[in-house]
Order: sequence, then C-alpha cells, then structure tokens
Amino acid sequence: MYQMRILGIESSCDETAAAIVEDGRRLLSNVVNSQIDIHAQYGGVVPEVAARSHIEVINPVINKALTDANLGWNDIDAIAVTYAPGLIGSLLVGTLAARTLALVHNKPLYPIHHVEAHVYANFITDQANNLNLELPAKQPTFPMLALIVSGGHSQLALFQSHGDYSLLGQTRDDAVGEAFDKVAKILGLPYPGGPSIATAAEHGDANKYRLPKSKMDNAYDFSFSGLKTAVLRAVQREVGVDTTFPSTELAGLLNEQQRCDFAASFQKTAVETLVDKTVAAFRKHSPASVVIAGGVAANQELRRYLAEQLPIAINYAPMSLCTDNAAMIATLGYYVSTEVEPTPPTEMTVQPSISMNQTAWSKRDA
Ligand code: KG4
Ligand code: ZN
Repeated sequence: MYQMRILGIESSCDETAAAIVEDGRRLLSNVVNSQIDIHAQYGGVVPEVAARSHIEVINPVINKALTDANLGWNDIDAIAVTYAPGLIGSLLVGTLAARTLALVHNKPLYPIHHVEAHVYANFITDQANNLNLELPAKQPTFPMLALIVSGGHSQLALFQSHGDYSLLGQTRDDAVGEAFDKVAKILGLPYPGGPSIATAAEHGDANKYRLPKSKMDNAYDFSFSGLKTAVLRAVQREVGVDTTFPSTELAGLLNEQQRCDFAASFQKTAVETLVDKTVAAFRKHSPASVVIAGGVAANQELRRYLAEQLPIAINYAPMSLCTDNAAMIATLGYYVSTEVEPTPPTEMTVQPSISMNQTAWSKRDA
C-alpha cells in the first residue's frame, strides 16, 4: 500500500508537464507537452511565446496525467509545483494552476525547486505497467554525489541525506547545456543543440580539433564560455575568415564532415571536463552512489565515459526523465512533504532566480 500520491506540475521553461508519483518512487503517469517545435523556428526559447503556450495546454496536460493514471481528485494527496528557477511568465502559469487546484480540491501544496528536482528523477524505481520505462533497480544511497547538467545549470552537489547537501562547485559563466545550444548555432545544427550535436558527433572525428579545457581555482567549478569561443575561433580558422565575419553566416561555409568533426570534438571536450571533475570529487569524498541529472544527462557519450572512469556502477535514469518533466517534481514533492509544512495556496510566490541551496527544504535544521 502506498502512503502518499502526489500530482507534480512543471512549467518553468518550454515544457508543460504533469505527473503522478506514489511515495517518491512509483511513477503512475507522466505527461510532457514540449514546445520545441514552436521555439525551433526562432532558434531558442521566446519567453512570451512560452508563457502563452503553457496557458493553452496546462489544464489538458494535468487532466491527462489523471486519466492516464486512471485516478480522480479523491486519489490525490498533495500537489507539488515548480516555483523556481525559470522564466517568470512560465513559472506563473504552473503555480497559478497548482494554487487554484489546491484551493478547489483542498490539497496540501508544496513549492519545488526545479534543479533539486532534476536530481530526484534518479529516485523513480517503479512504474505503472503501461509506462515501459527502463528504470534503475534501486534508489541511490547516501552519501550521494550528483552531477547536475542542464540548459541553465552545471553543478556538483554532495548529498548526506534527503535535503542535506552542499554544493561542491558550479558554473562561473555558461551552463554546459547552454554551451551545447550555442555551439550548435555556430555549426548550423538545429535547436535544441544538445541532441543535434550528439547526433552529428556520431559521424565525426572527436580528435580532429583540439579545444581547450579551462582551469579553475576551485577544481569543482565549471566554465564553458571559453570552450564555446574556442569553437567559434576554430571554425573561423577552418573556413578561412577573420573574427569580423558575421557568425550567422559561418555555418554555411562548413561542409558536412567538418560540421560533424566539430560537433564530436566539442562534445568530447565538454564530456571530459564534466567527467574529470566528477571523478575528482568522487576520489575526495568517496560517496556511496553517483547520479547525473538534467537535460545533458541524456547524453550517451557522457554516460558511457563516466561509467568507464568511475570505479562504482551507476544506475542511470531513463533519458525522458533527465530532460524537463513533472515526474521529478512529484518525486521530490514527497521528500519535501515529509520535512516541510505545505504552503498556503494564497501565499505561494515564484522565484525566477534563486539557487538550489536556498530552498526551505535544504535550509531547514536537519
Ligand atoms: O534540464 P533541461 O531539459 O532544461 C533545463 O532545466 O535547462 O535541459 C535542457 C538542456 C539543453 O541545453 C539541451 O541542449 C540539453 O539539455 N540536452 C542535451 C541532450 N539532450 C538535451 N545535451 C547533450 N546531449 C543530449 N542528448
Ligand atoms: Zn531542467
């Protein structure tokens, strides 16, 4: 028997999502409405367009999460919603829906931090029969080292237990997913850049172009803006133009093989940087488990190389739970609900830019 069934709602960027999870481990339904097709024509997320699209689909997405799980409101014990960080207009749509539903159906409401939640995708180990995801056989054990790599974040965090964690390092400039997206633009590959670079890299020579790895004062901090600029300069050199040449026209001068070679060389350098730092943190802290989280954790080369370099086995979450989803929000909602009082629906606010270690859950006295 389960104790608590949570409906999760996510709308912080360009995915509108709702999911139902039992006791922070068993996924009952998982609905994700992606706006990728809408934003691809602009080459990136347009905040106003994103907010309007969330408004159109949020209620149908939530209703589908309930019907897919064959449940009604009486079967839901609480609502968890992303309140930070993200695009303000997008966050407002999800939180307003959650606040309204919590009031109408009289359910406890928990504000969830999107980046903390990415880590908790790794705690889903069971599912309803119709979902067919390849899930880890068991939950991670503590102490747990988490590499969090998304479009907006690159972080290494060490968890002693649920909600008790410290940040070992973070990005000083661009997040790694952002670097994938920007390098894809330079190379003329479609948005979102992560998956298109990974695909192009399959046909490329990763040793063709030598790209630099930045040295940081704190060994666990990241910097990816230098790598992005290095790719830009190398492409300019390769096609024989100087730095004044318009970067939007650069991709047109690359042939298919050069494009794939650049994708592979960039991916190799970015992945090695992430893995080197994770392995260094592993050696220092000897955690019982390692997890990776966030959209870039869907990268197969990162998974392969990390598994090769670490002395312990890693259980990877399925790719669909690494990119933005509400299953991770509902999962973390369970662990938050055991430690933190629910927030009155009329008092919930959004926090577009607070960092993951600023939440009530991580700040409480353990
Ligand atoms: O976690 P996420 O879905 O959204 C944020 O919270 O930012 O991460 C999106 C990021 C994008 O930068 C995207 O290019 C990247 O994750 N990404 C990937 C892959 N799939 C998504 N990066 C590398 N390889 C992939 N297969
Ligand atoms: Zn995310």
